[in-house]
Amino acid sequence: MGGVTPPTIVLVGLMGTGKSTVARRLGERLGRPVLDTDRVVEAAEGRSVREIFAGSGEEAFREMESRALEVALGGDAVVVAAAGGIVLRSSNRDLLAAARRRGVAVVVWLRADTSSLVARTSRGTHRPLLDGDPVGTLSRLADERGALYAEVADAVVDTDDLDVDAVVDAVLGAAGGADSL
Ligand code: S3P
Repeated sequence: MGGVTPPTIVLVGLMGTGKSTVARRLGERLGRPVLDTDRVVEAAEGRSVREIFAGSGEEAFREMESRALEVALGGDAVVVAAAGGIVLRSSNRDLLAAARRRGVAVVVWLRADTSSLVARTSRGTHRPLLDGDPVGTLSRLADERGALYAEVADAVVDTDDLDVDAVVDAVLGAAGGADSL
């Protein structure tokens, strides 16, 4: 990175790509706050993502995560773990594009094979979209959202064969300008 301080780093990608874990480690390495949009929404609501989906529905959740993204991009340089569905709304994609244009954010897509995603997400039960058929859902979401992640991202990091620190190194390299899509 040659001493260059990256702007806000936004991690995007499907559930199970390691965004939250990598964001936490990045925050430690950079000495920066970490905003995980799911956690921001949960703290504001006093309810879990699962409870919000069940009680208020997915659209209401999508509205809340849009607000969380806006706040995350509106202040000092931080690290943002953007929940997997952030790219669904064109207004969110526009926000990310505007932040990139202004040079205040770099967006990095963490990508992984469906088999890795299935293994990683099977450790938790907090993701309502994966109730039922996680394999089918994750491969469908990969198809549906791949182009959207590519649209918003400055760079992509394939995480399948990397441990957390190696992903952090790759993200920092990408945020410094290398490895463009
Ligand atoms: C979702 C991703 C989840 C969470 C919710 C829906 C999605 O966040 O917001 O379960 O639509 O991809 P993570 O990507 O942090 O798991």
